[in-house]
Parts: sequence; C-alpha cells; structure tokens
Amino acid sequence: MTISSHDMRIRDEIAADAPAIGRLVTEALRQLPQATGTEAAIVERLRAEGALTLSLVAEERGEAIGYLAASAARIGNRDGWGLIGPLVVLPSRHRQGIGSALMAEALRRLRTTCRGAALVGDPGYYVRFGFRAFPGLGVAGCPPEVVLALPFDGPTPRGELIHHPAFGLHQPQ
Ligand SMILES: CC(C)(COP(=O)(O)OP(=O)(O)OC[C@H]1O[C@@H](n2cnc3c(N)ncnc32)[C@H](O)[C@@H]1OP(=O)(O)O)[C@@H](O)C(=O)NCCC(=O)NCCS
Repeated sequence: MTISSHDMRIRDEIAADAPAIGRLVTEALRQLPQATGTEAAIVERLRAEGALTLSLVAEERGEAIGYLAASAARIGNRDGWGLIGPLVVLPSRHRQGIGSALMAEALRRLRTTCRGAALVGDPGYYVRFGFRAFPGLGVAGCPPEVVLALPFDGPTPRGELIHHPAFGLHQPQ
C-alpha cells in the first residue's frame, strides 16, 4: 500500500535504498543539535537485525526525499509499542507535508499491529499527530517532555520507553 501525492509516493524500502537512506538520515540530522551522528548507523543495525517494523521511503522521481523507521519497543513491562524514529526529510523539502505524510502512513500501519506509537522528539512538531508526554513515561538521560506516546487503546503508557538494543540507549538487562 502506498500514498501518492503529485509525484511523491510513500513506499516500503527496497534493498537498493539502503545507501540513499543512510545519506538522507545523515544530511537531515546534521543541523539538529540533539542529533548524535549515529542515527544512520542505528538504522543499519536495525535493518541488519531484521528489527525494522517499518522502513518507509518518501520518493519523488526516483529520489528518496524523506524516511521514517519504526521498531518494536516496550514501555515499562508492556511490549507491543511501535517506536518511530528516525523521521527525516531532505532539508530543501521541509514544510511541504512530507514528514506528515510519512507519519500518517506509519500510524495507519502501526494501528493494526501495535498498542500505540512512541518516540523521542520535539513536542512542538509531534503534538499535531496526537503524541504527548505522560507522567512517569521517560527514557534515562532524556528530558521527560521529549518522550512522547500515542496510545491506540487501553492503558496509559507509564515507565521507561525501552528502545531496541540497536539504539544503544539502555544497559543490558
Ligand atoms: C521534523 C521534520 C521531519 C518535519 O518534516 P516536514 O516534511 O518539514 O514536516 P511537514 O511539512 O509535515 O510539517 C511542517 C510543519 O511542522 C513544523 N515543524 C517542523 N519541525 C518542527 C519542530 N521541531 N517544532 C515545531 N514545529 C516544527 C513546521 O514549522 C511546519 O509548520 P506549518 O505547517 O505550521 O508551517 C523535518 O523538519 C526534518 O527532517 N527535520 C530534521 C530531522 C528531525 O528533526 N527529525 C525529527 C527527530 S528524529
């Protein structure tokens, strides 16, 4: 299933996309102060471990202009969460709805398989999709206001948002 708008479409990644996705992630996050420079490598590790629940490419005339990854996550002792990130759009194509289109497609798909979506990001951007902070929801070392969730059903998300080990965020248990 793909979304089309003019010449842009959103589709699943194919094997040949991997180098372009790496370049796009690096380029889009270069200016972001909180970026670590390891995001492209995280995507590669997720891919290598078969842990990319979603790997969506926004493509226009054969060029990757946006990208969204999702992977399985836990909140507290509950699994079944879809962790969104990174989400990136080519800097020259910001504010054209590409990030929103990627997010809409990701949420549409995650709704069928997950109890909710979660991410670490700027609430100024993500509230428009329904994400918000919750008391007791966090990631060690991150300000709580940037740890956001969008439950699709049931209980309030509470506890640590545990990313896939490929993110290198948590101590081994
Ligand atoms: C964040 C990002 C994915 C948004 O993609 P986009 O295609 O430009 O977004 P859209 O066109 O769907 O939405 C643009 C709107 O979001 C707003 N916006 C973008 N980043 C924002 C932020 N950090 N805080 C608040 N608003 C933000 C824009 O001002 C614009 O608002 P408007 O519609 O009122 O004009 C893109 O700016 C990007 O790649 N940034 C660098 C990487 C990044 O920050 N990724 C998220 C963390 S992993």
